[in-house]
This record gives sequence, C-alpha cells and structure tokens, in this order.
Amino acid sequence: MFNHGRALSGWLPHNATDISDTDPTEENDMKKLALSALLGASLILPATLAEAKEIVIKFSHVVAENTPKGQMANKFRDLVNERLKGKVKVEVFPNAQLFGDKKVLEALLLGDVHMAAPSLSKFKKYTKKLQVFDLPFLFNDINAVDRFQKGPEGQKLLKSLESKGLIGLGYLHNGLKQLSAYKPLRVPADAAGQKFRIMSSDVLAAQFEAVKAHPVKKPFSEVFTLLGTHAIDGQENTWSNIYSKKFYEVQPYITESNHGLLDYMVVTSAEFWNGLPADIRAELEKALSEAVALGNRVALEKAKSDKQKIIDSGRSTVIQLKPEEVEQWRAVMKPVWKKFEGEIGADLIAAASAANK
Ligand code: SIN
Repeated sequence: MFNHGRALSGWLPHNATDISDTDPTEENDMKKLALSALLGASLILPATLAEAKEIVIKFSHVVAENTPKGQMANKFRDLVNERLKGKVKVEVFPNAQLFGDKKVLEALLLGDVHMAAPSLSKFKKYTKKLQVFDLPFLFNDINAVDRFQKGPEGQKLLKSLESKGLIGLGYLHNGLKQLSAYKPLRVPADAAGQKFRIMSSDVLAAQFEAVKAHPVKKPFSEVFTLLGTHAIDGQENTWSNIYSKKFYEVQPYITESNHGLLDYMVVTSAEFWNGLPADIRAELEKALSEAVALGNRVALEKAKSDKQKIIDSGRSTVIQLKPEEVEQWRAVMKPVWKKFEGEIGADLIAAASAANK
C-alpha cells in the first residue's frame, strides 16, 4: 500500500541501456515510444501520485453487518472516510470475505489487512493471558466485564500482544454466550456426549470436556453448515450471532445460560500503526473510540432485541434456567479456572473476578 515506487513504475519507459542496444531505426522508434510514454506519464502522474498518497485501511471481520462488530466497523469507516477524505480510506470486509479469524492475525502481520477485531478467544497463539476472558462463569454481567477491561489489568492486556508485533487498540463488547442444541439442555448431564463447536480456545475445550461433551474447534463461517448437516450437535454464542447467522433456524433449543463471554479486541499491526503520521493516528483513535461506543450500545440493545426476535420467530425454544440449574453448570465448569491458573495467572483471574463487586 505504501509502495509508491511500485505504483509509479508502470509508467516509466525502459531504461537507457535497453535503447542503446538496438539498431538506429529501432532506436528512433524506441525513443518515440519512450517519449510518448513520458508524455502519457506526465498527464497521468499527478493523479497517480494523489492516489498513491491515500492510505487505505482494510478492516476484516467475520460477522454480519447487523451485529455490534459489524456496526462498529461501518461507523469507523464512515467517520474516517468523512473526516479524513482524500487522506485515508477505510474499507470494511464483513462475513469472513477476506479472512477468517484463524488467518486474520497473520494477515495483519503480513500487511494484507490493517485492522481486525477477533473474539478474545482467538488470540491463544499470541498470548495466553487473554484466556482469562474465556473462563466460564467469570463475569456476572457486561458491567463487570467493562469494569475489568477499563481497569489497570484490562488495559495492560491490550499491550500483551506487542512483543508479537500487534497492537490492541481497544475492546468491544458483544455479550454473554448462550448454548444452542438439537435437544433441550437444562443441566450439564444433558450436554454429555454432544458435539459442540467452539472457537479456537483451549479454555473453551476444557469447559465442554468438564460437562463430558466433545468440543470441536471450527471457524465461525462454517458453523451454520455444520449445524445444518448435524456434523455437530450444538454451539455457544451470543444472541446477535445466533440471530444474524440464523443458527436459531436450525437449532430448536437455546438455553439462556450466560455461562461465558464473547468480546473483541480491535487490533492492528505495530508496523502499520507506528508508520502512520501522528496526526492521522490521533484522528483514527478518536474515530475508533466513537465507533466502539456505538458498537457497545448496539451490543446491549441486540442482546435483548435479537433474543426477542428469536423467540418471536417460533423456530427455537428459549429455555430459562432455574437458579439451581445454573448452579449445576457453574459447579461443573468452574474447576476449569484452576486448570488454567498457571497460564493466565492467579492474580489476573482474581482481578477479573473482583470486577463483579
Ligand atoms: C465473532 O463474533 O467474531 C465470531 C464468534 C465465533 O467465532 O463464534
């Protein structure tokens, strides 16, 4: 993108050595050609230069546009394209059009895309610390998540990827996860033996193993097909993802378990970000914080409205758990905390848990 040399090279004539190696008639023709190429270039060069100066930011994500992340990315694009017109252009690629979450972090490091917002469950290759967000029944509600993310430990985690060449620009909420399945799941024993799709997280694998289920790590883009073909029995996700990707149309039961979190980190590559002019970076940060504020509002709103739309559709029965049933899930899944204490850190888990107040 910043390879201005490459942008211009197509307009330059062949070099002098090429011309002098030819016979005189051919030489004249070559000179004419070179001249007309130069004349052409002089007409086109200013436009080419102007285009080459515009910074293009490709923002890749995997969800639908009518989700908290989809809305956030579009808002960021609109704000930047209006405020930095001619200087920066943001292009958003939703629905894993460019990259799935497995590849997008590599793509950021290679400069193939410039921003992404993967779920916090998808950073395991880069840091073990973010696994804290996957611990089952860690946060009672999104306000607790917010307090932890805004506190010193949460802010420190945004920097935990820097040694790997990635910069965390901020968090974005989606919300608490629910369980969907072909059969009603009321207590952990109901999940035993069932295959659940999970994100690429060992904590999530351990969580399903704790209820004697079989976790299957698969990309988000494949979940609908896997459910539709019964290759898996169920999955865990937020209301907005279950609704926007139509999982509720193929899963007759959704248990409102609120057993875990699905939030995001907006990330970029250090090489790209630090190479931007400081004033542009400041404008991008401002636009991003406004876009994230909108995305967080959408997340709160959709956790209610998308759930209601699913209920109203009549396609899926939403199961409300009794407090004693929730306690059963919590009791079986919570030992997972201890299992990952070494990788995450007992202090970090304690800080996250304390955010419940
Ligand atoms: C996302 O919300 O970005 C995808 C979540 C998933 O993979 O289940």
